[in-house]
Amino acid sequence: MAILFDEKKKIFYLHTKKTSYIMGFLEEHLVHIHWGKRLNEISSIEQAVPFRRRNFSHYTAENDQICLDNIPQEYPTYGNTDLRSPAFHAQYADGTTITAFRYVSHSIINGKPELDGLPHTFRRDDKVETLDLVLFDEKTKLEVHLLYSVFEDKDAITRSVKVVNTGDVKADIKRIMSANVDLFGKEFDVISLCGATQRERYINRSPLTFGEYRVDSKRGASSHMRNPFIAVASKYATEDVGEVYSMNLLYSGNFTADVYVDQYGMTRMGIGINDFDFNWKLDAGETFQSPEAVLVYSDEGIGAMSRIYHDLYRENLCRSKYAMKVRPILINNWEATYFDFNEEKILEIATKAKKAGVELMVLDDGWFGKRNNDECAMGDWWVNTEKLPNGIDGLAEKVEALGMKFGLWFEPEAISPDSDLYRQHPDWHIQVPGRTTHLGRSEYLLDLANDEVCDYLIDVIGNIIRSAKISYVKWDMNRNMTDIGSPALPADRQRETAHRYMLGLYKIMDALTSEFEDILFESCSGGGGRFDAGMLYYMPQTWASDNSDGINRLLIQYGTSLAYPAVTMGSHVSAVPNHQIHRTTSFKTRYTTASMGQFGFELDITKMEDEEFEKMAECIKHYKKVRETVQFGDMYRLLSPFEGNYAAWQFLSKDGTQVYICCSNVLAVPNGPYNFVKCRNLEPDAIYYDEDNDIRMSGAELMSIGLPHLEIRDFDSKTYFFKKQ
Ligand code: DGJ
Repeated sequence: MAILFDEKKKIFYLHTKKTSYIMGFLEEHLVHIHWGKRLNEISSIEQAVPFRRRNFSHYTAENDQICLDNIPQEYPTYGNTDLRSPAFHAQYADGTTITAFRYVSHSIINGKPELDGLPHTFRRDDKVETLDLVLFDEKTKLEVHLLYSVFEDKDAITRSVKVVNTGDVKADIKRIMSANVDLFGKEFDVISLCGATQRERYINRSPLTFGEYRVDSKRGASSHMRNPFIAVASKYATEDVGEVYSMNLLYSGNFTADVYVDQYGMTRMGIGINDFDFNWKLDAGETFQSPEAVLVYSDEGIGAMSRIYHDLYRENLCRSKYAMKVRPILINNWEATYFDFNEEKILEIATKAKKAGVELMVLDDGWFGKRNNDECAMGDWWVNTEKLPNGIDGLAEKVEALGMKFGLWFEPEAISPDSDLYRQHPDWHIQVPGRTTHLGRSEYLLDLANDEVCDYLIDVIGNIIRSAKISYVKWDMNRNMTDIGSPALPADRQRETAHRYMLGLYKIMDALTSEFEDILFESCSGGGGRFDAGMLYYMPQTWASDNSDGINRLLIQYGTSLAYPAVTMGSHVSAVPNHQIHRTTSFKTRYTTASMGQFGFELDITKMEDEEFEKMAECIKHYKKVRETVQFGDMYRLLSPFEGNYAAWQFLSKDGTQVYICCSNVLAVPNGPYNFVKCRNLEPDAIYYDEDNDIRMSGAELMSIGLPHLEIRDFDSKTYFFKKQ
């Protein structure tokens, strides 16, 4: 049993293989007791939560001892003796904002209920149990369900919160965190993934100190700048050792991840929808479901934490048929042609790419309406027959006849002011009437808080997909949300727009990915502007960044791998000088970087010299050899590009027989120091052989001495592929 309730001591135990999450009742208060290493039983709550009277605290009576400010709480609300940031805050019809939840009941469910309308993890063949802990506020009649699902073998716990208004007057939810954990101590570093467009998800680690640390997005998307991931780690935690407590939100919109150190040096961490500019009107009888958060604790360092996320996301989050299937190598025409292409050019690319061993031809932006540049036609989803006289179906057939699959780009959420769709529906985009709506890439965002717009998109995109032999869809989104307002919502629901947009988007994605279950979907948002676990539920891979430079990508992919597996990261070799940052690197180095993800190309193969074409074909052959290990093996980060001149990682197949290692350096160092890349988790006595480099070594030698990594040139790299003998 993963979930146990000790009736006598009033304690809940949520056990995974290696961890425990424990909470219980101090009188009527639900307190957090432990999240960490497996702990089968505690002696008493009083022992684990040493509460006592403290100066300047508040109590219900003179002889009372419990001040909520002084103890770790499970789901703190506003308006009582806890004066820290609450997990839940609402305003009621009488204008007051106090909530006091008390225990009503609980049930333990075998399995995991779905989250209606929101992405969620699910059970495959593993053991999962769910605790539904019901609390109630007597005065306001709000019922809250704290939902915990325990993935016992995966060492992960998911949490979400459902609120039901059982009263007869409305309540306004102002803040609803999906998870809150109060930890004793503050000697932690906080780790987040921050960046910008074209340098997404860089690792950001700093010491935690008194006050509040917040990583959030107010952009209507999880964003390039921040990611819905947060961790606090012991100061000595490295890839291999130390304690890490982490949270990742399955959500693609405005989120907040907050860490707060209080006066007694206790750390409160939480994650949820961003409370900034958020207000949800919960009418009598209505229910609000928060997004789901995944909680991972590891006492074996940051690397073990990542491998837990990787396994969970591949197996229990990505619901696509492709989740556990080897993915095809693709070529995308974007950087080859931009908007300047026709059927002949695409077929020329496909024909040559097929010869090199590419499996999927993807047609990017510019195939519809009058879209010859990025200033118009978003929303005009009819084929441009000047470029494609035989339509998408005709082109797809010809690509299929070459023995390749065909994929197509969409940006369903956008509308250009210069489009037929806009001329027909000027009220279909996010806007505040009477105010300027600002353009981003010459487009607005469609109002997905409006059901009519969602239904239209399901219909129009569905019809195109149905009309041709399409095996892959790239789903792009190229601006953030500004001037937020929905013409479809009443005044008192305007602050619901950003979340309703996400619900609308998820509804569309649900409909299309369910109907077209044989299609491989890849999400994208101007590169990696929406690389999050919410998207991965519907679409099992994401274009990691528009920056395809082989050196910048080391940082982007290394950072992304903290929470997301390699198989989810679209990762391509592009031309040099690189189109984004104009750097020239060797084909080999671009390949080494790209081969750690979901591999493909983004270049004009028709202009390639024979020598480069040969290299490309070689890389494809090589990737086909290693891809199963990369896509479904365990990843070990060996050298961090955030800490020096080198990057290295290892993928170990689940059966332990194949080891793929990528090593790269940034700059050459004249007569540089000796530097070895040491492998992880191999069998010490086994012999491993790398045919490409003709190296035979024992597991012990690979782990203890490692592979020499000498930087001879700027931007150099080397790969090894060992097989256990
Ligand atoms: C942004 C994407 O990230 C690119 O890969 C490409 O699809 C363009 N949009 C097309 O407009």
